Amino acid sequence: LNGTLIADSMKEVHCMARHILRSQQYDREALTRLFKKTGEIAARFARPEERRALRQLLDGRLLFNIFYEPSTRTRMSFGAAARNLGMRVETTESAGHFSSAIKGETVEDTMHVLCAYGPDAIVLRHNEAGAAARAAAVCEVHDVPIINAGDGTGQHPTQALLDLFTIYQHHGAIDDKTIVLGGDLAHGRTARSLVYLLSKYPRVRLIFVAPVGLKMRGDILDHLREHEIAFREETQLEAAFPDADVVYWTRVQKERLPDPSIYPEVANVYTIGVPEMGLMRDNAILMHPLPRVNEIKPEVDSDPRAVYFSHQVRNGMLIRMALLLDVSGVAW
Ligand code: CP
Repeated sequence: LNGTLIADSMKEVHCMARHILRSQQYDREALTRLFKKTGEIAARFARPEERRALRQLLDGRLLFNIFYEPSTRTRMSFGAAARNLGMRVETTESAGHFSSAIKGETVEDTMHVLCAYGPDAIVLRHNEAGAAARAAAVCEVHDVPIINAGDGTGQHPTQALLDLFTIYQHHGAIDDKTIVLGGDLAHGRTARSLVYLLSKYPRVRLIFVAPVGLKMRGDILDHLREHEIAFREETQLEAAFPDADVVYWTRVQKERLPDPSIYPEVANVYTIGVPEMGLMRDNAILMHPLPRVNEIKPEVDSDPRAVYFSHQVRNGMLIRMALLLDVSGVAW
């Protein structure tokens, strides 16, 4: 976890390229602009006759998707987003095993090499917190933007942006909302990144619910205290769900547990089914960055308040279209 602290305490790489490394780099004005742009893209993408025009915007440009850790949504949605804008996409999955990383090549050396092939942006997922910032320090020299697609237990800023957009889409505002974040808050980079974004809105209220050993880490709690954001920790869903405008649940990350043998115990502390949905208000929404394992029962999927399949995943593609335009410096 030390890598996370190092990555989060790093000052912004002096930006020539327009990297997306961590949630803190966005201010409210930038978020408002991004949401407006994403809304406009969504409206245009919904009209088949407009899709051809969208494909002209980044026509012929090149995106590299380099994933050292598994991914379905982030990798596929960045690929789809890029192609919807006319980009060409080259992808390496399982880069930790099938790229020259297995021979001992560093991220820095790999970035020098990839930049020589002339990409317009590189989307990087890595198992080490801070890897995206290290990659950006190299790519900066080549004026190639790095987009952090999740770095270990560090951050996942583009997921947080789509999550915040989904909240905004449903509630029309972020301020004054009560957001319950639950599950594996110790290892969940999506929750960490989302909290950093939510802390831009001084009147939000946060409630954390996590099994013992998987609670939100001290650096995030310190950040909330420093920014005077109201938060509390609960252990019972009954004490949290009735207050929520948003319930944001996350998977227990078996692969990151220091002792994986505790997985069956911690993974089954909380399960959201129909009775638990009964604790939520009618206008609240249930979100999950996915993948889910057994923390949300499939019986909940058809509840209109469950928005992970119905809105959140598609918003991932739409917001990544907006982000690719941003890092490409294309005026909208
Ligand atoms: N939410 C998310 O990052 O999903 P993937 O790991 O499938 O990309």
